[in-house]
Amino acid sequence: MKEIYALGIGHNTPVFIDLAEACGYRIAGLYHYNDSRTGEYDHGFEILGSFDDLLSLPTLSSKNFLLTMGNNNIRAELFEKILKKGGNIPSLIHPTAVISRFASIAESGVYISPFVYLQADSSIDKNTVVLSHVNISHNTTIGKNCFLAGNATVGAYTVVEDGVFIGQGALTISAKVSKIGKNAYIAARALVTKDVPENVIVVGAPARVMEK
Ligand SMILES: CC(C)(COP(=O)(O)OP(=O)(O)OC[C@H]1O[C@@H](n2cnc3c(N)ncnc32)[C@H](O)[C@@H]1OP(=O)(O)O)[C@@H](O)C(=O)NCCC(=O)NCCS
Repeated sequence: MKEIYALGIGHNTPVFIDLAEACGYRIAGLYHYNDSRTGEYDHGFEILGSFDDLLSLPTLSSKNFLLTMGNNNIRAELFEKILKKGGNIPSLIHPTAVISRFASIAESGVYISPFVYLQADSSIDKNTVVLSHVNISHNTTIGKNCFLAGNATVGAYTVVEDGVFIGQGALTISAKVSKIGKNAYIAARALVTKDVPENVIVVGAPARVMEK
């Protein structure tokens, strides 16, 4: 059986472990952000060391890694460091997901959870998390290092730029929303009716920029 090491120990971690196991991997151990828990067990898996311990190994070649943290910036940084050391971060697609044969998913770090629907002529770039029941319509591009929370719907003909967070149950209207700018944050249940600029939080129905 293929082995995989999980990085990050938080509330999301067992969710991603479930996904890896559903995709045929055995969890070989966990790594934490610091060394305070080394040697302990979490959800039955041994904590083998810190991220620094892992990244100080001469090479990570031929090893598989699972990134379980929700924060897009932290995940992006670790993603690059692990690949640079030769590690493999396989994309994982849950067997219940429905993926059009005309859609494409990057090879590394894309996590497609149960009951996701990815329609034709759409794509998902590397290191992007798609949680359960997300619906990505046709002719839509999802950038790298994004996080799409459960039940979100991304309409057709939309470019979702890198680092975007889309909250639970948010909906972007097909064709009306052509771009969601880099690192934008869409609140839970937001109804997005027009383009969203970079680096803003939008909230409500219709969604408006929230003052920080
Ligand atoms: C928008 C969001 C970032 C605001 O969080 P916050 O800065 O902690 O804000 P607060 O909870 O203090 O709420 C501030 C105000 O906005 C309102 N509000 C919060 N979230 C809202 C939302 N999604 N839609 C509409 N109003 C919202 C609150 O009711 C509150 O209103 P009030 O001042 O009239 O009482 C957050 O609520 C949210 O939607 N996050 C997405 C969560 C998610 O989908 N996670 C997925 C994890 S898998």
